[in-house]
Formats: sequence, structure tokens, C-alpha cells
Amino acid sequence: MARDFTKVGVIGLGTMGAGIVEVFARNGIDVVAVEVSDEAVEKGRGVLSNSTGRAVARGKLTEDEQAALHARVHFTSDMGGLRDCQLVVEAVPEHLDLKKEIFAKLDAIVADDAILATNTSSLPVTEIAVATVNPKRVVGMHFFNPAPVLQFVEVIKTVITSDEIFEDVKALAERIGKKPVIVGDKAGFIANALLFGYLNHAVAMFESKYATREDIDAAMRLGCGYPMGPLALMDLIGLDTAYEILDTMYKQGRDRLHAPSPIIKQMVTAGLKGRKSGRGFYTYAAPGKSEVV
Ligand code: 3HC
Repeated sequence: MARDFTKVGVIGLGTMGAGIVEVFARNGIDVVAVEVSDEAVEKGRGVLSNSTGRAVARGKLTEDEQAALHARVHFTSDMGGLRDCQLVVEAVPEHLDLKKEIFAKLDAIVADDAILATNTSSLPVTEIAVATVNPKRVVGMHFFNPAPVLQFVEVIKTVITSDEIFEDVKALAERIGKKPVIVGDKAGFIANALLFGYLNHAVAMFESKYATREDIDAAMRLGCGYPMGPLALMDLIGLDTAYEILDTMYKQGRDRLHAPSPIIKQMVTAGLKGRKSGRGFYTYAAPGKSEVV
């Protein structure tokens, strides 16, 4: 029988991490939400409040349900708070050394039978797993942005992940309303491997002044029925995250399709990271807001 998860942890409360916290809490699971500093904790709390506030404003959540959801989340800057979590999802920036360091620490904090999951988009789960003493309990659990909305989760099984742990994670993904699919440990898994060549191509088109940002996005939205255009989607994902994903995929596969268009790095260096910073290919009403000005 699949494990009954009542308390999980999430490390890293950026766009993805805060979204993952919301998904668990919405589904009645207690969450320990961890960030590196008190300031980062407050930012993460703000992302969660914005998202649940929007759901209340749209009549999708009552104020009582919102209060109950928030009461299920314990924010902290102390990783020790994760000690009695049955599963921890790591959602920190895409740097292999950072993730390995976190997994090595986590291994020593949580109980021996706790599951460790990484939300990495493109880094090798196997390499993260071997930073722990027991790599059998490590899986990939890759959510999509916005996590509270998109119903897909890639569950990544390494050559060493135990079958039982893998089945528990799949069952958990279903319980929180997601469709889990099983994928091997290859850069970009399924979705990002298909998506990022397309996004990079759109950026190259914009960079070469072949077409305007509005026309590139309209082509895919209105011409092909995609929910958003590629440049707006880059802004949603975050240009820093997109750069790291492309760079990792390029280094692993050497496919020119994934060689990051130079403007992405330039924009990241200039602080134009997309919605999260208030400006990317478009300018937003405020950091984290979706309204374009
Ligand atoms: N957080 C939480 N909820 C959000 C949200 C956010 N950031 N943005 C939108 N929503 C919710 C809204 O509240 C609304 O909920 P409701 O239907 O319950 O009222 C619903 O989503 C629809 O929102 P809107 O009506 O404002 O706007 P749209 O219908 O245009 O949908 C969208 C917005 C969901 C972002 C949609 O445009 C979309 O799906 N875009 C594509 C996103 C995508 O491709 N994501 C994958 C990126 S790749 C990735 O994540 C992998 C990683 O490794 C990088």
C-alpha cells in the first residue's frame, strides 16, 4: 500500500518552490517551507499569499479555506525544521554543487525512511542522489510553472531509485491532482527537452530583429493555439532559470538548438529576469505580477 503522506518539506521558495508548497497545502498536507534567510522566507510567504489571494479574488477559494491552507505551512530558515518530514522536495536554483550540498545535509537531518526529491529541470538526478549516503531514496519530482495550475509532474527514476519509493512518489503526485509520468534521468526529461529548443529559437528570432516580440508571441498564441507566446513564457519561467536549463542541456547533448542565445545571458546580467524581477522581454506592473505595462 502506498505511503500516507501527512507532512512534507520544500526547500527553496522561489516561483516553483512556493507553488509546490501551495499544491501540497491545498491538498491537506502539512508543509515545512524552508529558505536560506529570513528575508527569503518572507519573499516565499509573499508568493504564496499572492497566489492564494488571487484564488480568493476569483472565488476559487474561500477566506476560511485560504486561512486553513496557510495554517498548514510552517515557514522557517532552519533546515532542522525538516526533521520529521516524510518527503522533502528541493527547489533551489539550478546549480549542481548547491543541490548536492543540500542533499548531503538533508540526508543527515531526515529519518532513514524519508524520501528526498529534487525538482531539477535538467541536472542529473543520479549525481544529486550520490551526494547522499542512501541514493536509493532519491527521485526527481519535476513540476511545471505555475505549479498550482499545471497538472503534469515528471517523476525521474535513476538506475538506483528503489521501486517502492518510486511508487510512493507517483501515488503522491496523483493524490495532489497531478498526472505523473515516468522518465529516465536525461537532461530536460520529456517536456523541457522538447520545449527549450523552441523557446531558444524564438529568442534568436527576436534578437536578430526578424520580428517583434508581440508578433512572435502572437504567432504561437493566435496562430498555433498555445496558451502563451514563447517570449512571455520565457518571462514566466525566469530568464535566469531558462539560461541554466539551456546551458545544462547544451553541455550534455551538444545540440546547437540548446546553445543559449547570447541575449539571454546579457538580460540576466542586467537584472532583466522576467516577471520575477518586473522586467524581461516585457515590463510588468510590479515584480511577480502578470499585467504587462
Ligand atoms: N500562480 C498560481 N496560479 C496562477 C498563476 C500563477 N503564477 N497564473 C495563473 N494562475 C491561475 C489563475 O488564478 C487562474 O486560475 P482559475 O482558473 O482557477 O481562476 C488560471 O491560472 C488561469 O489564469 P488566467 O485566467 O489569469 O490566465 P490564462 O488562462 O492565460 O492562464 C497560464 C495563465 C496558466 C500561465 C497559462 O497561460 C499557461 O498555462 N501558460 C503556459 C505555461 C507553461 O507552458 N508552463 C510550463 C513552463 S516550463 C516549466 O515550468 C518547466 C520548468 O523546468 C522551467
